Amino acid sequence: MESLRALASLLLVLLPAAAHGWGVDGHYTTCKIAQGRLSQAASKAVNDLLPKYAEGDLASQCSWADHVKFRYHWSSPLHYIDTPDNLCTYQYARDCKDEDGVAGRCVSGAINNYTAQLLDYGKETSQYNLTEALLFLSHLMGDIHQPLHVGFTTDRGGNTIDVHWYTRKAVLHHVWDDSIIETAEERFYDSDVENLVEAIQTNITKEWADQIPTWEKCGKTQTTCPNIYAREGIKAACSWAYKGAVNDSVLGDDYFMSRLPIVNWRLAQGGVRLAATLNRIFG
Ligand SMILES: *[C@@H]1O[C@H](CO)[C@@H](O)[C@H](O)[C@H]1NC(C)=O
Ligand SMILES: *[C@@H]1O[C@H](CO)[C@@H](O)[C@H](O)[C@H]1NC(C)=O
Ligand SMILES: *[C@@H]1O[C@H](CO)[C@@H](O)[C@H](O)[C@H]1NC(C)=O
Ligand SMILES: *[C@@H]1O[C@H](CO)[C@@H](O)[C@H](O)[C@H]1NC(C)=O
Repeated sequence: MESLRALASLLLVLLPAAAHGWGVDGHYTTCKIAQGRLSQAASKAVNDLLPKYAEGDLASQCSWADHVKFRYHWSSPLHYIDTPDNLCTYQYARDCKDEDGVAGRCVSGAINNYTAQLLDYGKETSQYNLTEALLFLSHLMGDIHQPLHVGFTTDRGGNTIDVHWYTRKAVLHHVWDDSIIETAEERFYDSDVENLVEAIQTNITKEWADQIPTWEKCGKTQTTCPNIYAREGIKAACSWAYKGAVNDSVLGDDYFMSRLPIVNWRLAQGGVRLAATLNRIFG
């Protein structure tokens, strides 16, 4: 019992520091939006690849990649990109590497990796587990759209910036993973993530309708284009996430109300682009 309690408090200390992506509801939202936009062929392939217990619901598995971080220790660096402090730019060759400097080991490299693996779908054999490839891709497409997942190196994407979210202590990274979404759900959506999904879907078909083709677009021969998403990410991090949020800031209504539209917009883009990528992969 004592050691269990010690373990539990150790986890409580460790968990907030770990860089996970959008929280469960953020990932649920991007995957739910994506699944509603799949072509028939992509929808069939996704159903085929999902584990049986998912009952065809991609959103329910969208946080799988966070849950396997301890088991698949190698996968931790695949959730984010560290860019040079205060530059507000991203370059694949310069920035996409892990802490040991191994090239390609970052979220944009991993999106390319799992997209390429899924192109094996329909072939007689693949050396990869395509169920895992689908679950990684679906999750990481969300992560790359969380502005602080393409953040500065020294503060670890806002993980070492201590703030108060209203009266509660938090780190800035967590505010963007979870707090903004949770507060929005409580205030505007009856604490029900499905209502948030619906509100974003409505804006995708109305407010943002004429931007959608631009969001979906990649180069002619590209199946997915994470470098575009990452470049937008660090820009949003500088203009919105880091701005006005130094160590010991108290973030309240002003910050919440001005940043919530950015969160909604990035969740929408993540969902639309996941669907566009899966539609291109599965033809
Ligand atoms: C690519 O996927 C394989 C299989 O999951 C994994 O072992 C490898 O680390 C991945 N590399 C990147 C850069 O995502
Ligand atoms: C593929 O990965 C899933 C999820 O980790 C696992 O349940 C399944 O057993 C794996 N399939 C094979 C053939 O290893
Ligand atoms: C914020 O303050 C904490 C505690 O004093 C410190 O550990 C951390 O490095 C600071 N973060 C930044 C970005 O200066
Ligand atoms: C939808 O768009 C309207 C008008 O721009 C905006 O007021 C609202 O906050 C948006 N909602 C979401 C969930 O994006």
